[in-house]
Amino acid sequence: MDEHVDPKVVVEAGYDLIGDRYGNLYQAHPTPSLREEYLPLLLDRLEPGSNVLEIGAGNGIPVTRDLARKHHVTGVDISGGQVERARRQVPAATFIKGDIMGLDFPDATFDAVVSFYAILHIPRDEHRELLERVFHWIRPFGWLLVNLAAGDDPGTVYAAEGGFFGVSMYFSHFNADHNEALVRKRRLRDCASGPAWATDVGGGRLQTSRGLPVVARHEASRSLTLPHR
Ligand SMILES: C[S@@+](CC[C@H](N)C(=O)[O-])C[C@H]1O[C@@H](n2cnc3c(N)ncnc32)[C@H](O)[C@@H]1O
Repeated sequence: MDEHVDPKVVVEAGYDLIGDRYGNLYQAHPTPSLREEYLPLLLDRLEPGSNVLEIGAGNGIPVTRDLARKHHVTGVDISGGQVERARRQVPAATFIKGDIMGLDFPDATFDAVVSFYAILHIPRDEHRELLERVFHWIRPFGWLLVNLAAGDDPGTVYAAEGGFFGVSMYFSHFNADHNEALVRKRRLRDCASGPAWATDVGGGRLQTSRGLPVVARHEASRSLTLPHR
Protein backbone atom coordinates (compact mmCIF):
# COMPACT_ATOMS: atom_id res chain seq x y z
CA MET A 1 0.00 0.00 0.00
CA ASP A 2 1.24 3.54 -0.78
CA GLU A 3 2.50 4.78 2.58
CA HIS A 4 1.37 8.34 1.80
CA VAL A 5 -2.25 7.22 1.76
CA ASP A 6 -4.05 7.62 5.07
CA PRO A 7 -6.52 4.71 5.31
CA LYS A 8 -8.78 6.65 7.68
CA VAL A 9 -9.12 9.49 5.15
CA VAL A 10 -9.92 7.01 2.37
CA VAL A 11 -12.68 5.39 4.45
CA GLU A 12 -14.15 8.68 5.70
CA ALA A 13 -14.22 10.28 2.25
CA GLY A 14 -15.55 7.11 0.66
CA TYR A 15 -18.51 6.70 3.02
CA ASP A 16 -19.30 10.43 2.86
CA LEU A 17 -19.91 9.86 -0.85
CA ILE A 18 -21.46 6.42 -1.00
CA GLY A 19 -23.61 6.23 2.12
CA ASP A 20 -26.82 6.73 0.11
CA ARG A 21 -25.83 4.18 -2.56
CA TYR A 22 -24.94 1.63 0.12
CA GLY A 23 -28.19 2.25 2.01
CA ASN A 24 -30.36 2.16 -1.10
CA LEU A 25 -28.86 -1.11 -2.30
CA TYR A 26 -29.33 -2.65 1.13
CA GLN A 27 -32.96 -1.52 1.30
CA ALA A 28 -33.70 -2.71 -2.24
CA HIS A 29 -32.50 -6.24 -1.36
CA PRO A 30 -33.89 -7.20 2.01
CA THR A 31 -31.96 -10.50 1.89
CA PRO A 32 -31.43 -11.69 5.45
CA SER A 33 -27.79 -10.92 6.18
CA LEU A 34 -25.60 -11.58 9.19
CA ARG A 35 -27.19 -8.51 10.78
CA GLU A 36 -30.71 -9.95 10.69
CA GLU A 37 -29.43 -13.32 11.81
CA TYR A 38 -27.28 -12.24 14.74
CA LEU A 39 -28.83 -9.05 16.07
CA PRO A 40 -31.90 -10.94 17.44
CA LEU A 41 -29.55 -13.08 19.56
CA LEU A 42 -28.54 -9.91 21.36
CA LEU A 43 -31.98 -8.26 21.36
CA ASP A 44 -33.44 -11.36 23.04
CA ARG A 45 -30.93 -11.13 25.85
CA LEU A 46 -30.60 -7.40 26.59
CA GLU A 47 -32.71 -5.84 29.33
CA PRO A 48 -34.87 -2.95 28.01
CA GLY A 49 -33.16 0.39 28.53
CA SER A 50 -29.65 -1.04 28.10
CA ASN A 51 -26.74 1.18 27.06
CA VAL A 52 -25.34 0.05 23.72
CA LEU A 53 -22.32 1.28 21.74
CA GLU A 54 -22.35 0.68 18.01
CA ILE A 55 -19.00 1.03 16.20
CA GLY A 56 -19.31 2.05 12.53
CA ALA A 57 -23.06 2.62 12.77
CA GLY A 58 -23.26 3.71 9.12
CA ASN A 59 -26.60 5.24 8.15
CA GLY A 60 -28.33 3.59 11.11
CA ILE A 61 -30.44 1.14 9.08
CA PRO A 62 -31.17 -1.53 10.18
CA VAL A 63 -29.00 -2.16 13.24
CA THR A 64 -29.09 1.18 15.11
CA ARG A 65 -32.80 1.54 14.36
CA ASP A 66 -33.59 -1.93 15.75
CA LEU A 67 -31.41 -1.43 18.83
CA ALA A 68 -32.86 2.03 19.51
CA ARG A 69 -36.43 0.70 19.74
CA LYS A 70 -35.74 -0.44 23.32
CA HIS A 71 -32.24 0.71 24.21
CA HIS A 72 -30.05 3.81 24.60
CA VAL A 73 -27.70 3.63 21.64
CA THR A 74 -24.51 5.60 21.00
CA GLY A 75 -23.47 5.18 17.38
CA VAL A 76 -19.95 6.14 16.30
CA ASP A 77 -18.93 6.67 12.70
CA ILE A 78 -15.85 8.20 11.09
CA SER A 79 -17.93 9.59 8.19
CA GLY A 80 -19.79 12.84 8.81
CA GLY A 81 -22.11 11.99 5.91
CA GLN A 82 -23.08 8.71 7.53
CA VAL A 83 -23.63 10.40 10.90
CA GLU A 84 -25.95 12.96 9.28
CA ARG A 85 -27.97 10.19 7.59
CA ALA A 86 -28.13 8.18 10.80
CA ARG A 87 -29.29 11.18 12.86
CA ARG A 88 -32.12 11.72 10.35
CA GLN A 89 -33.13 8.06 10.22
CA VAL A 90 -32.74 7.14 13.88
CA PRO A 91 -33.46 10.29 15.90
CA ALA A 92 -33.79 8.27 19.11
CA ALA A 93 -30.07 7.36 19.12
CA THR A 94 -27.06 9.55 19.92
CA PHE A 95 -24.32 9.75 17.30
CA ILE A 96 -20.66 10.75 17.53
CA LYS A 97 -18.62 11.56 14.43
CA GLY A 98 -15.14 10.20 14.91
CA ASP A 99 -12.60 7.46 14.53
CA ILE A 100 -13.38 4.88 17.21
CA MET A 101 -9.62 4.64 17.86
CA GLY A 102 -9.62 8.28 18.93
CA LEU A 103 -12.49 7.94 21.42
CA ASP A 104 -12.58 6.62 24.93
CA PHE A 105 -15.31 5.75 27.44
CA PRO A 106 -15.10 4.96 31.15
CA ASP A 107 -14.78 1.27 32.03
CA ALA A 108 -18.08 -0.65 32.23
CA THR A 109 -20.09 2.03 30.40
CA PHE A 110 -22.01 -0.28 28.06
CA ASP A 111 -24.26 -3.31 28.42
CA ALA A 112 -23.33 -4.26 24.86
CA VAL A 113 -20.93 -3.25 22.10
CA VAL A 114 -22.02 -4.02 18.55
CA SER A 115 -20.22 -3.66 15.23
CA PHE A 116 -21.13 -4.99 11.80
CA TYR A 117 -18.80 -4.69 8.79
CA ALA A 118 -16.76 -1.81 10.24
CA ILE A 119 -13.66 -3.18 11.97
CA LEU A 120 -12.49 -4.52 8.60
CA HIS A 121 -11.99 -0.88 7.51
CA ILE A 122 -9.55 -0.21 10.40
CA PRO A 123 -5.84 -1.08 9.93
CA ARG A 124 -5.43 -4.53 11.43
CA ASP A 125 -2.47 -3.48 13.59
CA GLU A 126 -5.08 -1.55 15.59
CA HIS A 127 -7.56 -4.44 16.04
CA ARG A 128 -5.96 -5.90 19.18
CA GLU A 129 -5.94 -2.49 20.91
CA LEU A 130 -9.51 -1.79 19.83
CA LEU A 131 -10.81 -5.10 21.20
CA GLU A 132 -8.82 -4.56 24.39
CA ARG A 133 -10.52 -1.21 24.93
CA VAL A 134 -13.94 -2.55 23.96
CA PHE A 135 -13.64 -5.26 26.64
CA HIS A 136 -13.04 -2.54 29.23
CA TRP A 137 -16.05 -0.53 28.01
CA ILE A 138 -18.39 -3.52 28.42
CA ARG A 139 -19.70 -3.94 31.94
CA PRO A 140 -19.40 -7.36 33.64
CA PHE A 141 -21.96 -9.74 32.11
CA GLY A 142 -22.42 -7.36 29.19
CA TRP A 143 -22.35 -8.46 25.57
CA LEU A 144 -20.14 -8.21 22.52
CA LEU A 145 -21.59 -8.73 19.03
CA VAL A 146 -19.15 -8.09 16.19
CA ASN A 147 -18.72 -9.25 12.65
CA LEU A 148 -15.05 -9.65 11.86
CA ALA A 149 -13.57 -10.77 8.55
CA ALA A 150 -12.55 -14.34 7.78
CA GLY A 151 -9.79 -13.72 5.21
CA ASP A 152 -6.29 -12.27 5.36
CA ASP A 153 -5.62 -8.73 4.08
CA PRO A 154 -2.69 -6.75 5.53
CA GLY A 155 -4.23 -3.49 4.23
CA THR A 156 -5.32 -2.65 0.71
CA VAL A 157 -6.77 0.45 -0.91
CA TYR A 158 -9.04 -0.74 -3.72
CA ALA A 159 -9.17 1.70 -6.63
CA ALA A 160 -12.37 3.54 -7.45
CA GLU A 161 -12.73 2.01 -10.92
CA GLY A 162 -14.80 -1.09 -10.55
CA GLY A 163 -14.22 -0.82 -6.82
CA PHE A 164 -16.47 -0.25 -3.86
CA PHE A 165 -19.59 1.58 -5.11
CA GLY A 166 -17.34 3.63 -7.40
CA VAL A 167 -15.02 5.04 -4.72
CA SER A 168 -11.64 4.00 -3.37
CA MET A 169 -12.01 1.94 -0.24
CA TYR A 170 -9.61 0.52 2.34
CA PHE A 171 -9.83 -2.93 3.93
CA SER A 172 -7.54 -4.63 6.44
CA HIS A 173 -8.13 -7.79 8.43
CA PHE A 174 -6.79 -11.03 9.83
CA ASN A 175 -8.05 -14.48 8.95
CA ALA A 176 -10.73 -16.28 10.98
CA ASP A 177 -8.28 -18.25 13.17
CA HIS A 178 -6.34 -15.14 14.13
CA ASN A 179 -9.55 -13.20 14.82
CA GLU A 180 -10.97 -16.00 16.95
CA ALA A 181 -7.74 -16.06 18.96
CA LEU A 182 -7.97 -12.27 19.41
CA VAL A 183 -11.40 -12.45 20.99
CA ARG A 184 -11.08 -15.76 22.84
CA LYS A 185 -7.99 -14.61 24.77
CA ARG A 186 -10.03 -12.01 26.59
CA ARG A 187 -12.09 -12.44 29.73
CA LEU A 188 -15.01 -13.93 27.83
CA ARG A 189 -15.97 -17.20 29.38
CA ASP A 190 -18.79 -17.70 26.91
CA CYS A 191 -17.68 -16.88 23.41
CA ALA A 192 -19.40 -18.29 20.36
CA SER A 193 -17.76 -17.58 17.04
CA GLY A 194 -17.38 -19.37 13.76
CA PRO A 195 -16.90 -18.50 10.09
CA ALA A 196 -20.19 -18.07 8.26
CA TRP A 197 -21.14 -17.41 4.66
CA ALA A 198 -23.65 -14.66 4.03
CA THR A 199 -24.98 -12.61 1.14
CA ASP A 200 -24.77 -8.91 1.75
CA VAL A 201 -24.11 -5.49 0.26
CA GLY A 202 -20.48 -5.69 -0.83
CA GLY A 203 -18.43 -4.00 -3.53
CA GLY A 204 -21.32 -2.05 -5.02
CA ARG A 205 -23.47 -5.14 -5.43
CA LEU A 206 -24.86 -8.03 -3.46
CA GLN A 207 -22.16 -10.61 -2.89
CA THR A 208 -21.65 -13.73 -0.88
CA SER A 209 -18.65 -13.67 1.39
CA ARG A 210 -17.28 -15.38 4.44
CA GLY A 211 -17.23 -13.49 7.72
CA LEU A 212 -16.63 -14.24 11.36
CA PRO A 213 -19.59 -13.39 13.58
CA VAL A 214 -18.73 -13.33 17.27
CA VAL A 215 -21.25 -13.27 20.09
CA ALA A 216 -19.74 -13.25 23.53
CA ARG A 217 -20.64 -12.47 27.08
CA HIS A 218 -18.31 -10.83 29.54
CA GLU A 219 -17.84 -13.55 32.20
CA ALA A 220 -21.06 -15.33 31.30
CA SER A 221 -22.36 -18.62 32.49
CA ARG A 222 -24.73 -19.75 29.75
CA SER A 223 -23.66 -21.24 26.42
CA LEU A 224 -24.74 -19.96 23.06
CA THR A 225 -25.03 -21.92 19.85
CA LEU A 226 -24.48 -19.97 16.66
CA PRO A 227 -26.90 -20.53 13.77
CA HIS A 228 -24.10 -21.61 11.39
CA ARG A 229 -22.36 -24.17 13.57
C1 LIG B 1 -19.73 -1.23 5.64
S1 LIG B 1 -20.31 0.13 6.59
C2 LIG B 1 -21.34 -0.74 7.76
C3 LIG B 1 -22.41 0.13 8.34
C4 LIG B 1 -23.37 -0.63 9.26
N1 LIG B 1 -22.66 -1.09 10.46
C5 LIG B 1 -23.97 -1.79 8.52
O1 LIG B 1 -23.85 -2.92 8.98
O2 LIG B 1 -24.58 -1.56 7.47
C6 LIG B 1 -18.90 0.52 7.61
C7 LIG B 1 -19.06 1.80 8.43
O3 LIG B 1 -17.98 1.87 9.37
C8 LIG B 1 -17.53 3.21 9.43
N2 LIG B 1 -16.13 3.20 9.91
C9 LIG B 1 -15.05 2.70 9.25
N3 LIG B 1 -13.93 2.91 9.96
C10 LIG B 1 -14.31 3.53 11.12
C11 LIG B 1 -13.59 4.00 12.26
N4 LIG B 1 -12.26 3.91 12.35
N5 LIG B 1 -14.31 4.58 13.27
C12 LIG B 1 -15.66 4.71 13.18
N6 LIG B 1 -16.38 4.29 12.10
C13 LIG B 1 -15.72 3.70 11.09
C14 LIG B 1 -17.69 3.70 7.99
O4 LIG B 1 -17.71 5.11 7.88
C15 LIG B 1 -19.00 3.05 7.58
O5 LIG B 1 -20.12 3.86 7.83
